[in-house]
Amino acid sequence: MNAILSTPRDPAVRSSPDAASPFALDLLAALGGQPKSIAPKYFYDEAGSRLFDQICDLPEYYPTRTELGILRRHAPEIAALMGPQAELVEFGAGSLTKVRLLLDAMQSPKAYLPIDISGDYLADSVRALQAQYPRLQVLPVVADYTRVFTLPTRQRQGHFEDSSVIESEAAHAQSMRVGFFPGSTIGNFTPAEAVDFFRMAAKVLQGGALLVGADLIKDPGILHAAYSDAAGVTAAFNLNLLSRANRELGANFDLAQFAHSAFYNAPLQRIEMHLMSRVRQQVALCGQSFSFEEGETLHTENSYKFTVDGLRALAMQAGFTPGPVWTDAQRLFSLHWLVAPM
Ligand SMILES: C[S@@+](CC[C@H](N)C(=O)[O-])C[C@H]1O[C@@H](n2cnc3c(N)ncnc32)[C@H](O)[C@@H]1O
Repeated sequence: MNAILSTPRDPAVRSSPDAASPFALDLLAALGGQPKSIAPKYFYDEAGSRLFDQICDLPEYYPTRTELGILRRHAPEIAALMGPQAELVEFGAGSLTKVRLLLDAMQSPKAYLPIDISGDYLADSVRALQAQYPRLQVLPVVADYTRVFTLPTRQRQGHFEDSSVIESEAAHAQSMRVGFFPGSTIGNFTPAEAVDFFRMAAKVLQGGALLVGADLIKDPGILHAAYSDAAGVTAAFNLNLLSRANRELGANFDLAQFAHSAFYNAPLQRIEMHLMSRVRQQVALCGQSFSFEEGETLHTENSYKFTVDGLRALAMQAGFTPGPVWTDAQRLFSLHWLVAPM
């Protein structure tokens, strides 16, 4: 999937089951696997993106407000590292809330390229941003950054056209290209996948820099509260994966028969989210039938927690050179400046 946003949404397209879509293929593989496990990127259709924004406002969910606080405090210093006329590429841009703090501090940003898998939601978010920043060149890209994707190509005059990411860089190194990857989305990857992400980012950013938000290891009590909130919003977010499969793929998940489960796996230093089957049951998807035992789970998300040195070590495996790191006073969250290899 990769599209530069230009056409209005078409609900009819989304409502017809597509057994060959990446979501269908990965969910079929997950349900047929042992243990059952699927990548968290499939949480994010429009409903999932809206639920994630509600999570960000929850009192228990410290990461968003903590990262916003770090950004607010250090935006001038970060903008100085970027220099004038930098291009900002955001991976997993979501509601585009955090980037406003950077844009406000940057000196004449040349362009902003938000990338997200959740296309309709990205389109809405970009419309709101563009209304507030009418002079900023905003080039949204609907893509899965774990697969091959393309970015608009830089032209000499600073304008863009659609072309290959890799081709685009060599010829035009006029200003710094900075990647932004907030929200500790890096923690959704296994360590090996995180290194793969850093390698991909290094290709996109050649010689630029990456600003990454990473959640830090802490008291598991704080983590448990953050991922099993009292209002049940995280549970709804988790269960939306099944609603989405029903809506898009014609599956027949009975949501009442699955429970949200989130816990800290201390040896692996990660929160795990699962959907636990309350009963023994069968589920139909794309003409196939799958069984769940009572208590069996579909593993839907990992959220790894890091030490500052641990995150830097992963980036260094992909050739990045660690720069400044900013944290909050309680050391709940960290924001890393990483210099990309040429
Ligand atoms: C944890 S949310 C973070 C949102 C926002 N950046 C923030 O910091 O609040 C992850 C975001 O990344 C997007 N995303 C997740 N996996 C993705 C993928 N493989 N490719 C592109 N976008 C992805 C989701 O749609 C969502 O907007």
